Amino acid sequence: MCGIVGYIGEKKAAPILIKGLKKLEYRGYDSAGIATIDNGKIAIKKDIGKIDDIEKNIGLKSLDGCVGISHCRWATHGKVSRENAHPHCNFEKNISIVHNGIIENYTELKNKLESKGFKFCSETDTEVIVHLVDSYYEGDIKEAVIKALKEIDGSYALGLISSKDPDKLIAARKESPLIIGIGEKENFIASDVPAILNKTNKVIYLDNEEIALITKDKVDVFDINGSKIKKKVHKIEWDAEQAEKGGYEHFMLKEIFEQPKVISETVEGRISNDEITLKKEIGLTKEEIKKIRRIIVVACGTSWHAGIVGEFMLEELAKIPVEVEYASEFRYRDPIIDDGTMVIAISQSGETADTLAAIREARKKKAKIISIVNVIGSAIARESDIVLYTKAGPEIGVASTKAFTSQLIVLYLLTVYFGSIRGFIDKQQVKNRIRDLRMLPLQIQSILDEKNYIKLHAKQFYHKKNALYLGRGINYPIALEGALKLKEVSYIHAEGYPAAEMKHGPIALIDKEMPIVVVATKDNRTYKKVLSNIQEVKARGGIVIAIVTKGDKEIGKFVDHNLYVPKNSYILTPLLAVIPLQMFAYYIAVMRGNDPDYPKNLAKSVCVE
Ligand code: G6P
Repeated sequence: MCGIVGYIGEKKAAPILIKGLKKLEYRGYDSAGIATIDNGKIAIKKDIGKIDDIEKNIGLKSLDGCVGISHCRWATHGKVSRENAHPHCNFEKNISIVHNGIIENYTELKNKLESKGFKFCSETDTEVIVHLVDSYYEGDIKEAVIKALKEIDGSYALGLISSKDPDKLIAARKESPLIIGIGEKENFIASDVPAILNKTNKVIYLDNEEIALITKDKVDVFDINGSKIKKKVHKIEWDAEQAEKGGYEHFMLKEIFEQPKVISETVEGRISNDEITLKKEIGLTKEEIKKIRRIIVVACGTSWHAGIVGEFMLEELAKIPVEVEYASEFRYRDPIIDDGTMVIAISQSGETADTLAAIREARKKKAKIISIVNVIGSAIARESDIVLYTKAGPEIGVASTKAFTSQLIVLYLLTVYFGSIRGFIDKQQVKNRIRDLRMLPLQIQSILDEKNYIKLHAKQFYHKKNALYLGRGINYPIALEGALKLKEVSYIHAEGYPAAEMKHGPIALIDKEMPIVVVATKDNRTYKKVLSNIQEVKARGGIVIAIVTKGDKEIGKFVDHNLYVPKNSYILTPLLAVIPLQMFAYYIAVMRGNDPDYPKNLAKSVCVE
């Protein structure tokens, strides 16, 4: 949802900005640009397309100057065009700005500024900010920015430079993410950590309505009234290598293959001597855990699917009723929250605007909020009472993979922990559950090792126009996730459905052109029923690709293709079943000539509501 990188220091800014921007391309890739201050003047280069192509066409790197801002765009206001690409500047070209977010009162502000003679040259909401700052400038750029921001409604992360004050980089944020990276005789701003990881691991998280005045040696942060604020410098544990492709063709593939490691790392430190050791992280007393009467999960996209798996886990093992809500819908329903209700927010980025808005709504109603988040220090993490971090490392591919499995791991740990404290799981059962969990990394590795077999199947289906994904019970959300993955990266229309519901609609679509992907792993709950659903598909000529348990001899005669996963407990099956579906979607996307890391129209962090 737009990426920002800024630099101030002693080195040439442009190459540093381009490198950083490339790490943020997952946030937006329809256009990009850079502005630097060179010899007392602002120089701007920008264009539509991906950064590499723009670099080839107009040579962004050639811009000189040691202070600069840059941006990759995911269009909200105004079509994809060179004029609408950032940076934007004022008429005299002595102030330039990059922005992520949405200015809600921009029409009003634009009319006001136009009536004063300010000329606009783009259709963006962003341009009002630069003219507004210009209109307030009386010799102090920070003061002008503060006055402008006070007039703005909406969300923003901003980077600003001015040739009237060439040794300063200004940053500000409200609702959209922005961090400051602290270097040696150089400082940075960025929308997300991977952009600056190869330069520094020391960061300051800007909070809402804070403005930073940054020079190469100093960072001063102020509130919206101009009073100085003391900020903590955090150390990031991720290393730069984690944000590289490491020999893989795409981040998505690398991230799929990282899952065995990510699972081990998410579990590490949370299990000891056959016990789940979440006590310190969660900080709730036994009595508080016993008093939970209901959990509401709020999330979007893949994280929402993780929430539905969590619903099955928590209801079955911890006996807590769970409702899973689209975060974007949650606050429009006047949700009922009493003192026995706990809200769990799930988010890879920790910045998804709808999820953030949902937890704010929950907080207004006095709910306790646990968040399951991947990005340390992100807005959702900071606004939660309890944070359980997934340890997936930076996820760059727009389609979430390793973050999803790590979210499931945290939900599982939380479930077993709550279940044991609430008296529904005894010591031996906890031990067994941990044993099952420990089997996962090797089991997932064995699925990954079958990549050629999965690729072969992708080859048979990559030209299809539609697909239906079915699953039942705890694997129903995996059908949803499998369909979402295919849709996101291959642009094949795919629907996920509870297998039995197929009879109430989608069955009308089935013919020999329609591949039906069915999660049909063997268990003593839904397996037999799923077999019946498969027969219903076959009777109508559909082609069935089934996710089956290794060693299942029965299913072969009913289905056309099998993708195998090892056996584990029913509750952990989703963590296995999702892997071939991720790979299937990835290979199909590549075979169709798509770049799965940058699917069209999508952004990784959706910071607008
Ligand atoms: C976007 C991404 C999805 C992600 C969703 C929620 O749509 O493309 O991959 O699942 O946002 O993101 P979050 O960071 O809150 O998990």
